[in-house]
Amino acid sequence: MCGIVGYVGRKKASGVLIEGLKRLEYRGYDSSGICVQHGGSLVFRKRAGRISALEEALADAPEIAAGTFGIAHTRWATHGEPNEANAHPHFDDDGDIALVHNGIIENYATLKQFCLDKGHVFHSDTDTEVLAHLIGEFYHDGASSLEEAVQLALREVSGTYGIAVMCSGEPDKLVVARKGSPLIIGVGSDEYLVASDASAIIEHTVNVIYMNDNEMAVITPDSMRTVTIDNVPVTKEIQQIEWSLEQIAKGGFEHFMLKEIFEQPEVVRTSLGGRLDLRDMRVQLGGLGEIVRDLVKTHKIILTACGTAWHAGLVGEYLFEDLARIPTEVEYASEFRYRNPIVEEGTVVIALSQSGETADTLAALREAHDKGALTLGIVNVVGSTIARETDAGVYLHAGPEIGVASTKAFTCQLVVETLIALMLGRRRFMSQQSTERYLKALAEIPDKIERILAQADAIREMVADYVDHDNWLFLGRGYNYPIALEGALKLKEISYIHAEGLPAAEMKHGPIALISDGMPVVCIAPRNATYAKIVGNIEEVRARKGRIIAIATEGDEQIEKYADNVIYVPDCPVPLQPLLTVIPMQLIAYYAAVARGCNVDKPRNLAKSVTVE
Ligand code: G6P
Repeated sequence: MCGIVGYVGRKKASGVLIEGLKRLEYRGYDSSGICVQHGGSLVFRKRAGRISALEEALADAPEIAAGTFGIAHTRWATHGEPNEANAHPHFDDDGDIALVHNGIIENYATLKQFCLDKGHVFHSDTDTEVLAHLIGEFYHDGASSLEEAVQLALREVSGTYGIAVMCSGEPDKLVVARKGSPLIIGVGSDEYLVASDASAIIEHTVNVIYMNDNEMAVITPDSMRTVTIDNVPVTKEIQQIEWSLEQIAKGGFEHFMLKEIFEQPEVVRTSLGGRLDLRDMRVQLGGLGEIVRDLVKTHKIILTACGTAWHAGLVGEYLFEDLARIPTEVEYASEFRYRNPIVEEGTVVIALSQSGETADTLAALREAHDKGALTLGIVNVVGSTIARETDAGVYLHAGPEIGVASTKAFTCQLVVETLIALMLGRRRFMSQQSTERYLKALAEIPDKIERILAQADAIREMVADYVDHDNWLFLGRGYNYPIALEGALKLKEISYIHAEGLPAAEMKHGPIALISDGMPVVCIAPRNATYAKIVGNIEEVRARKGRIIAIATEGDEQIEKYADNVIYVPDCPVPLQPLLTVIPMQLIAYYAAVARGCNVDKPRNLAKSVTVE
């Protein structure tokens, strides 16, 4: 989720690179760096913070200003804090190979050990630096060119990458490659540009080459050659970008929120990457380290959070109790911090937060820490305060979330909780057979999310029929009760429609009085043990002339008898259902807000990160 820019041509590279970074800042903005060729050596600057900090650092670097050939990067941290040492580019031992990278090197620990054994010295906590050393190792031992060294190194890598590499020994050459992380090459007159997305290029040219997975390009000022990682030549077609700049920043979507909803298959894959080990059929969570032993023994977990993250906590309660058989409570952070909670010895307190900076969540965490709890963070922003203050944690790897209403971070919070619950369950009592069933099903979730997203147009048309109603209900049971709450919250946040989420059985203890002619009621009713019960609840709504939008399992035709509209989700084991049923909730809220003309990405009165009480 970081941004890459590269330039080979006759202009001053630094201007093009810095402008490109600014255009990519929405993809990552915690630190940045630039490197250009000058007089046979690689000259670079890196800074923590926004691109403006890097720009200031260039004021005293005339060599960088003079170069016509270079690479740059804006980072969204995945491994290691957002500081200067961890910013890209990274270098090999001799400082003669520079590399910028997007993606995650999943086997970096193994590769790092290989390089350490060969005597390499590391200067950062990143997975990327490993790749710079590995390329250097091959370059100085066996490879006949930079591109061959890159190929040899990439064959050892498992994970995802978009990279741009330069080398002081071959001063006119830029080598780029991709697998799983987007990379395009802009073809100008007398110049080439490289970028992780088109917004960094469009000012200079609309002619681009889209790199595919396992492809590499070798670029010089006068030529470009494309091959596969296995060195088979590939012919690439030049295509024209047809989008406007603003559209490009949003990946062609109308709003960041919609873009982030559609990114979910990709970010869930990234969040599972390297953690879900289908070969050995186990879960590996490096961020938990030695603490796993304490977690396995704990008698109580308390999950604390605010807003959408609190809903993820509620799903966590089901997961930890059901799959790991550990008594679990969920607390609003704002309540936990002030009610003098009892935290017994051995209690584990887990804070969930996209930003890692929410004031109440942080205060609850400090309260738990002072009372002697072991604290964990499930956080998106690497190096954020919560990530730093917890004893251990697991990052979401959801990439920057810009839309105020959280979507992809929520889904990744569920992914991480599921991974932790399965890891603990397996160590406590779960059979290998059950573990395998869940792990295989988890690996299929990204494709299943794609199947739900394919219904977006139909959902938009359906929602248009309901948006005039100012009061909605969302009903769910079991694992899907928190999803009903999340559905109602999403709708409130961005469309300003009043909505309430309920455990379906609670409806008849009061809220049923609200149901009137035509009131929209979203019923989350996938196949599970409470299916018949929720169908009963649907009948109760119908009897009072409410209109039903049902979320049901593919193939369930019976539900069409009771519901006015049905959105189907693929089947999966019950503990994984929230990962699928939340997607229609997000789409319903989004299309309702658009239909009502609301500012989806910046809803009134709301802030993305609430760092005050
Ligand atoms: C704000 C946002 C919500 C978010 C909550 C918690 O209220 O508008 O979307 O769920 O904060 O934020 P966090 O960064 O801790 O997940």
